[in-house]
Amino acid sequence: MSNLVGFTKGRKSQLMNGLRGDEVHEGLEDVVVANSSICRIDGQAGQLIYRGYPIGELAAHCSFEEVAHLLWHGSLPDAVSLREIADAVGAQSALTLPMVELLRRFPHYAEPMSVLRTAISALGMYDPRAESDVQETNVELAYVLTAKASSAVATYARLRRGEDPVAPDPGLSHAGNFLYCLTGEYPDELATQVFDNCLTLHAEHGFNASTFAARVTAATLSDMYSAITSAIGALRGPLHGGANQRVMGMLEEIGSPDKAREWVMARLAARKRIMGFGHRVYRVEDPRATVLREWCQKLGDALGQGQWHDISLAVEQVLSEEKGLHPNVDFYSASVYRMLGIENDLYTCIFAMSRMVGWTAHVLEQWSHNRLIRPRCNYMGPDSLTVAPVEDR
Ligand code: CMC
Repeated sequence: MSNLVGFTKGRKSQLMNGLRGDEVHEGLEDVVVANSSICRIDGQAGQLIYRGYPIGELAAHCSFEEVAHLLWHGSLPDAVSLREIADAVGAQSALTLPMVELLRRFPHYAEPMSVLRTAISALGMYDPRAESDVQETNVELAYVLTAKASSAVATYARLRRGEDPVAPDPGLSHAGNFLYCLTGEYPDELATQVFDNCLTLHAEHGFNASTFAARVTAATLSDMYSAITSAIGALRGPLHGGANQRVMGMLEEIGSPDKAREWVMARLAARKRIMGFGHRVYRVEDPRATVLREWCQKLGDALGQGQWHDISLAVEQVLSEEKGLHPNVDFYSASVYRMLGIENDLYTCIFAMSRMVGWTAHVLEQWSHNRLIRPRCNYMGPDSLTVAPVEDR
């Protein structure tokens, strides 16, 4: 396997790039806080590029394992490196007995993202390598986290249904294994291909909120498990990865394409957001939505469930006409997961499982040229108050 992409550059001037004095940048919008060689997003042109490769190119030609190698190690693997990385990740996928027992004890009504967040945090307690500052060990932890997150989600989903966990099959790809461990049945080629593509499309997205959270935690020289636990907490919010779960509820509520306009207009009139639309960076269509729309249509045709694509398209048309808003990655992924037979409340966990590769690549990059992330705020409150005795307040 190739080495991690090295990184050197003076940091202070970059941190201050575009910032002057006490000007406030709410939501850090358009603030550049670091150089990174992992991912480039051009929001005006609708481009997403992982280490030089456009996302459409990767989705069309690469497996998730190849993309993971690219993000972690900086280059697409040759056949030998691909086998090595697939084996290295696959070898980590089984959960230990204490982890399975922990998942068994979680309430069956728990929000799966809370389960995943807690499971990842617990994994860190059991792993003596967690405190390591050796780069090779932390690369191994990236493999562990990617493999075990997927197993933890599938195992919890089975346990809460009252089913026994299914052991991963080393003959399957990462995508195939998740579907197998979730359902207990071997997925067909189409399902594996679609799911593999979904993992690739969600694997990385620059300095989004969860990745930034991971880097903030990593920058204190905390450990990889803590950084990822922070990221999972940030991802679950509805303005970030939590949107996909809510999209499906919306499509079900709308019910048919002819009801889409009325539903959307009522929602907009109530000044409520439509989940799966809009983006902080993209001003045109999110290139991931383009690929997912095609999968949504293909799967719908193959499974006789074309209604999800048709309703989605109708919603998309109204939002484009009325608000100039485009679908983001969370919109069409929702109906794709539904057609793959995945429970609705697991969708954000799937986002987390995929993004695990991007998060860990960013943590490794952060540590390769670390600087504590510590912005300032403009204090707006009073000064120089004196303390009155408690009985006089
Ligand atoms: N539905 C209705 N109006 C919207 C939406 C939406 N989904 N998104 C943006 N707008 C409107 C917003 O109301 C505002 O209008 P006005 O100027 O009239 O008040 C305008 O567009 C600009 O919105 P903003 O809040 O300044 O944009 P932002 O950059 O802060 O928000 C966003 C980005 C993703 C939080 C937002 O588009 C949103 O809330 N979308 C719905 C949630 C969603 O789908 N999240 C997934 C994001 S993509 C996956 C990921 O990486 O997490």
